[in-house]
Amino acid sequence: MSKVSASPRGTFTGEVLANEQVCDGHYRLILDVPHFPPSRPGQFVQLQCRYPGEREGVHVVEWPPGQAPKFTQAELTDREPFLRRPLSLAGRRDHARGAVELDILYRISGTGTAWLSGVTPGKSLSVLGPLGNAFPIDAGKPAAALIGGGVGIPPMLYLAAALQAAGKKTVAFNGSRSSCLLPLRLLPAGKVRPDGLPSHCIAEFAAWGVDAGVATDDGSLGFAGLVSRPFEQWLDQQPQPDRDLVVYTCGPEPMMKAVAEICISRNIQCYLSLERHMACGMGTCQSCVCKIKADTPQGWSFKLCCTDGPVFDARAVVW
Ligand code: FES
Repeated sequence: MSKVSASPRGTFTGEVLANEQVCDGHYRLILDVPHFPPSRPGQFVQLQCRYPGEREGVHVVEWPPGQAPKFTQAELTDREPFLRRPLSLAGRRDHARGAVELDILYRISGTGTAWLSGVTPGKSLSVLGPLGNAFPIDAGKPAAALIGGGVGIPPMLYLAAALQAAGKKTVAFNGSRSSCLLPLRLLPAGKVRPDGLPSHCIAEFAAWGVDAGVATDDGSLGFAGLVSRPFEQWLDQQPQPDRDLVVYTCGPEPMMKAVAEICISRNIQCYLSLERHMACGMGTCQSCVCKIKADTPQGWSFKLCCTDGPVFDARAVVW
């Protein structure tokens, strides 16, 4: 996996071009961020969930030297979105004269993202990034399978574009709790297969020549059950997946663990993107540790999801 140091990062002001609801509780945000540095699928940004320079609602707490800061009850219980929110990139478009459009697909999960859902086109937002490492694209393997669940689907969209550019034959499997929580558009003439196997049915993947399957927990669309099941069924039909295929996955940890175990048992290369609470996104606060196998007495060591990851080789993760 490539390290982040190869990728310059910075704080930028982006203009909101669109911020539209795509399904229950999910929004697609398009930001115009001039001269945003090069980024790759798997990387993320830290978005400030208040307008740049806004002071309204911000509490300034005095911290005299040698004394503990004193907070009022209101300051301790206020749910102001103080920290930036980590959001994966779902795509980017580069235009003339350094203009860059970033796609961010997010779910309302707290105070910050609830505030974000009310932002209207024309407003400015502060963007820190690009952060983290990226999904490696293996030059020696001609095929790829993407398995995304819930808010793990957006980085798969960005990756689908990169895999198409690299000439890989790619399929995608998408899981959600219900059809109303799937943040993807169905093609008008597309047919989602009830067995969850890929077909020409999801607009965002079809744009990159990628067939896609769907699985929902409640059976309201596609396969009824875990997305790892149709993926495994599809795998059974592939002639030499250990030789030809790379699997990429992002989503709930039980889903990624199931996909990782399937791949490891069949000797198939698999990369996954871990999710942790991230306060800084830059390796400072230590809020995002994860256990990764290492040559230590206990067999693992702590790594930082924000700078060593979020993408890791599935064989290295300690669950
Ligand atoms: Fe702060 Fe990773 S988010 S160290």
